[in-house]
Amino acid sequence: MPGSAHRTLRGTTEPATAGRTQPARAFPVTDHRLIQISDIHLSSDDLEFAGARPRDNLVAGLELLGEVDLAPDMLVLTGDLANTGDPLCYQDLAEIMHRAAESLGAVVVYVPGNHDDRPEFRRHLLGQPPDRAPINQVHWIDGLRVVLLDSVVIGQEHGELAEETLAFLRDAVAEPAADGTVLAFHHPPIPSPVEPMAEIMLHHGDRLAEVLVGTDVRLIISGHNHHEELGALGPVPVWVSPATAYRMDILSREAVHALPGCALSQIDLTPAGVTVNVIHVPVGTP
Ligand SMILES: [Fe+2]
Ligand SMILES: [Fe+2]
Repeated sequence: MPGSAHRTLRGTTEPATAGRTQPARAFPVTDHRLIQISDIHLSSDDLEFAGARPRDNLVAGLELLGEVDLAPDMLVLTGDLANTGDPLCYQDLAEIMHRAAESLGAVVVYVPGNHDDRPEFRRHLLGQPPDRAPINQVHWIDGLRVVLLDSVVIGQEHGELAEETLAFLRDAVAEPAADGTVLAFHHPPIPSPVEPMAEIMLHHGDRLAEVLVGTDVRLIISGHNHHEELGALGPVPVWVSPATAYRMDILSREAVHALPGCALSQIDLTPAGVTVNVIHVPVGTP
């Protein structure tokens, strides 16, 4: 569970609200903390672009989490976990994340991205038989529901939510959860300022927006762009996490220009609402 400063928000009227009427709460939530880790791009030659060190960056990020008292409940890995779907990279990732989960006392969940290979992802990260069907999941942190969807279109860089995935979501959020729902998938439903990335965002986001009407989804989190971005799909806020492998220069506009960098997202859900903060991980300059 989150640390003590974080926990002061839970169920207390002291001291800031003493003598005043408590504001109405949309969700009777307890505190939940997620750490989003996106676009790891593990590769056997450790080179996603010149000088990048994806594995070193991931390890540095996890070590940083171990050094500070963030006490996350869940680590959510939002896709492009292995750069070319290499089974050895998934084995390596599973071992790294198993050790991190044990030391942090957090659950780890995995979402696929366009660089991932569904059968190998299933086999090594989920312990399931290899299968090419979309990887859709529901996890719980007490009363908080975390729905993970597969936005991958096999052989394509852009994302879509297949009919079976939208049906899965419809079923998953048919009844409200005590603390609401966080929805995670790889391709952002909002455009990047970098044009080539905007072209390969989630297509047909309007279909998703229709499913979300009247549900308890409090936040959408995605990755893919390698730069942070905040937006909304209808009334639901959308957070696009920065990547661990490298960062995208948003000023490149018409081209994809990668820069060294590594960052994680800290996502807190409290009675006061939702906050997202970026944790920058110091990594070496190539
Ligand atoms: Fe990526
Ligand atoms: Fe991607």
